[in-house]
Amino acid sequence: MCGIVGYVGNDNCRDIIIDGLKKLEYRGYDSAGIALIDKGSIAVRKQKGKIENLERAIAGEKLYGTTGIGHTRWATHGVPSDENAHPHSNQDESIAIVHNGIVENYVELKEWLMAEHGIHFKTETDSEVIAQLIGVLNKGCLEDAVLAAVDKMKGAYAFAAISKDEPGKIVAFRKDAPLIAGLGKGCNFIASDIPALLKYLDKIYLIENGEMVICTPEKIQIMDQKKNPIKRDVLQVTWSLEDAEKEGYEHFMLKEIHEQPKAIRETLMRRLDDDDQIKLDGISLTLEDLENFNKIYIVACGTAYHAGLVGKYAIEKMARVPVEVDVASEFRYRDPFVDDKTLFIAISQSGETLDTLAALREAKRKGARVLSIVNVVGSSVARESDDVFYTWAGPEIAVASTKAYTTQLVCMYLIALYMGKLKGTISKEYYAEMIAELKAIPEKVEKIIEKAGEVEELAKFLYNRDQVFFIGRGIDSAVAYEGSLKLKEVSYINSFAIAAGELKHGTIALMEPETIVIALASQDRLFDKMYSNIVEVKARLAHVVSIAKEGNTKIEQESTEVIYIPNCADEVTPLLTVIPLQLFAYYVARERDEDIDKPRNLAKSVTVE
Ligand code: F6R
Repeated sequence: MCGIVGYVGNDNCRDIIIDGLKKLEYRGYDSAGIALIDKGSIAVRKQKGKIENLERAIAGEKLYGTTGIGHTRWATHGVPSDENAHPHSNQDESIAIVHNGIVENYVELKEWLMAEHGIHFKTETDSEVIAQLIGVLNKGCLEDAVLAAVDKMKGAYAFAAISKDEPGKIVAFRKDAPLIAGLGKGCNFIASDIPALLKYLDKIYLIENGEMVICTPEKIQIMDQKKNPIKRDVLQVTWSLEDAEKEGYEHFMLKEIHEQPKAIRETLMRRLDDDDQIKLDGISLTLEDLENFNKIYIVACGTAYHAGLVGKYAIEKMARVPVEVDVASEFRYRDPFVDDKTLFIAISQSGETLDTLAALREAKRKGARVLSIVNVVGSSVARESDDVFYTWAGPEIAVASTKAYTTQLVCMYLIALYMGKLKGTISKEYYAEMIAELKAIPEKVEKIIEKAGEVEELAKFLYNRDQVFFIGRGIDSAVAYEGSLKLKEVSYINSFAIAAGELKHGTIALMEPETIVIALASQDRLFDKMYSNIVEVKARLAHVVSIAKEGNTKIEQESTEVIYIPNCADEVTPLLTVIPLQLFAYYVARERDEDIDKPRNLAKSVTVE
């Protein structure tokens, strides 16, 4: 949550920072602001709302500075307002900071600053405390003041500070919130995430917890809290600028839905050798390890959690190990049965979700082996795991996750197949069949996307309803949860997902004539049971949109509409059934004229608990 960017170099950085912030807007969009050092003072401009509001506000102004910082906010402490927007300054406006995270002891620090130093606070935020602290602790060296401030602060944060007395310098610090430094030509950067910098460079340093980074136009120095220099390898970024641009699509969400065939293919091919054997490349998962695990936990949040639900089906079926799936925010508060015989699988697109990270740390503390499925290379979840299975989705910018989900599913299938093969719980023939099924998926996804117009028509017809139900059995119920989340987060329609067999235990009471029910019926094995559930809701005159495999025309008898997916094995249907659901959510939101890529109250990377 919240994105920060900083530039120090020889060019006017006003537009460079605004541009970087736009690439980070997915991290929060309650307000935005910039601070530039110009002629011995710091000019701060900030505005409630999206970055375009800020851009409009400063459009006619000649703002200049070759050192600057910027921020896009997801509000935690203090309402979204111009005052609470970052950057924040200290009392005499000699210091400005941008901050991502939470200063947990800010009340205590605020009282101390008011009582001991007569500081008057201008905002309701915890972040202003950082600026004021640095201000009172500054004895002429910004990095010393930053370290002295950090000494007093508790919480999880990354922040960057500038001082009017030291132009040409940015000092940033990381503790449990993402921070990178970027190596430019004659200039250097700091940022919360890689997309902010892709236009300018492809070499970065990952900053670790407890590290300070000092950027000048000439160099980037990384230090620990005792000012010992730290040597860090440069990371070559493989994402391209195009990956982080809309490239003609109306929204990132639509672009990312369309990118799924490529992303799935990439994730798959990176892990298959010429003989279709799964390569673990450095991940150690031996037969002995597998025999030692008596339990697997899959822990994640939101969409990634839904990918975990599918993972449970795959691993239990193929590798015959009990799997529990848990939402990360619950996991560590229920004293889970974790020990050195546990394999803990964390799933996270951003790799920065604090709930997931906290659960991972708890599992590690109890002795579990941690394997993570992550999209962002070098992110916190990746770094703190014993092994990482990367998804090759490329940057996912839309807040609503699409290609990260399908690539997470691919990883889950590969892990399940690998385990099953090693343990001998699946036959060679079954392994080969499943690999062939997976390899055929990208083309089948393309076929579904080619028929997006049908889903668009449906959305035009149904967009103004106020509630939608998603039902399914077995692995279809896992996808129903994802379809429902997608719809509610981008369209704000009240949607609800339930295992179809559970309907009769309560929820069917809500069925009325014309209630929209999206029924996933892709499982051959469960088709008759699912068909009965469809009949039950149809008998209450619901409007049923079924999703079924091609050729399964019987379903038309009881459905108002049917969306067909290409034929495939039951195990891998989630990779296909989710596509029309993503498209449905997208088109419904578009019909309702919602801000699809930046839904209200949400942020892409949730780095608070
Ligand atoms: C929904 C969505 C969220 C994320 C969740 C976890 O579309 O994107 O539910 O899946 O916040 O985020 P990551 O995967 O970054 O840990």
